[in-house]
Amino acid sequence: MAISRRISEMIEKSSWIRTMFETGSRMKAQYGPDQVCDFSLGNPNLAPPERFNRVLISLLKSDIPRMHSYMPNAGYPEVRETLARSISNEHGIELNSSHLIMTCGAGGGLNVALKTLLDPGDHILVSAPGFMEYFFYADNHGGTLHMVKSRDDFDLDVEKIESRITGDTAAVIVNSPNNPSGKIYPESTLRALGDMLTSKSRKIGRTVYLLSDEPYRKIVFDDIKVPSVFSCYRNSIIISSYSKDLSIPGERIGWMAVHPEAESVDEFLSGAILCNRILGYVNAPALMQRVVREIHDESIDVSVYKRKRDMLCAGLKRIGYDFRVPDGTFYLFPKAPGGDDLAVVSALQEQRILTVPGRGFGLQGYFRIAFCVEDEVIHRSFEGFSRAYSELTKN
Ligand SMILES: Cc1ncc(COP(=O)(O)O)c(C=O)c1O
Repeated sequence: MAISRRISEMIEKSSWIRTMFETGSRMKAQYGPDQVCDFSLGNPNLAPPERFNRVLISLLKSDIPRMHSYMPNAGYPEVRETLARSISNEHGIELNSSHLIMTCGAGGGLNVALKTLLDPGDHILVSAPGFMEYFFYADNHGGTLHMVKSRDDFDLDVEKIESRITGDTAAVIVNSPNNPSGKIYPESTLRALGDMLTSKSRKIGRTVYLLSDEPYRKIVFDDIKVPSVFSCYRNSIIISSYSKDLSIPGERIGWMAVHPEAESVDEFLSGAILCNRILGYVNAPALMQRVVREIHDESIDVSVYKRKRDMLCAGLKRIGYDFRVPDGTFYLFPKAPGGDDLAVVSALQEQRILTVPGRGFGLQGYFRIAFCVEDEVIHRSFEGFSRAYSELTKN
């Protein structure tokens, strides 16, 4: 059986992910899983908040009629109403339930938004380093993703983004707190981006939408507040999920909210509701919609990730690694000692430490450490990090 050339090429393009996965599996089989420090995956290691199970159990025991049936494709009206109120408070703007669509995680929401917006040949811009699945998401809907290098502190380079906007640009994606850098874009940057998009949209005679991918909004440290794109640009769509803050990525539950004053808002919402259905999702998981209605304002204990961040940063700093301390997420994105990210990842593998090269996020010369692991793994890794550092920096 032959698969499509396009998918074969995509498999090839993402082959380093497969190689890493296979290397990790081989090492765990060879040495035992507790002898390998696996920092390669952004899979939250904390249990969901305690109330998650209680709400789930009480829902299962309830006698809600037709509890597992199809529903309106945008999601349950009462769930959307509750969440719209909460999002209005958080973002300081009055949304109602019609501006909100329940989605299969942020990944599902991004695909729905892109399918709704893109014509064949359209472009999407995103800052590098960034989440590489966006390439595949854009391609799913006939678009092409272009990466624009961030500033040295990983902030958006608004001028550079502006220089890449053409009549084919349908949207800019921002992700803050950012995977992999942990950067939170300051309000001044988002305002500059919003002003630029307003004037550029006018110039090219096309609305360039801003898609804000926010699954890490609540995973922030040091009391830093994540500014809202809604107050910076009206043609924005926020996409989020409970994958990280409730630690339930396997349950595939998230939402998309559209600024009520966005250009063609009603048309966009009609299109997105249709896309939520015809992409095959049909609707977001029924049970999980009801669960998040009850516990949407809860979160895992973020101080646990902060403790891990601080422990990792202190240990790596002592060794000599160079990095910017992340404001949020559970990722650290240090410079590759010696400059070659593939060499670093390979030297760390020699020490049974699994990380991801920066080129996997569109920025060579760095590597990503996902610290959503047990504290013990972080402690155990320092010896290997130290040996790899000496190896990589010896002349
Ligand atoms: C930046 C970013 N966006 C989107 C997603 C997808 O999240 P979800 O599980 O909600 O689909 C991830 C998952 O790791 C991510 O890191």
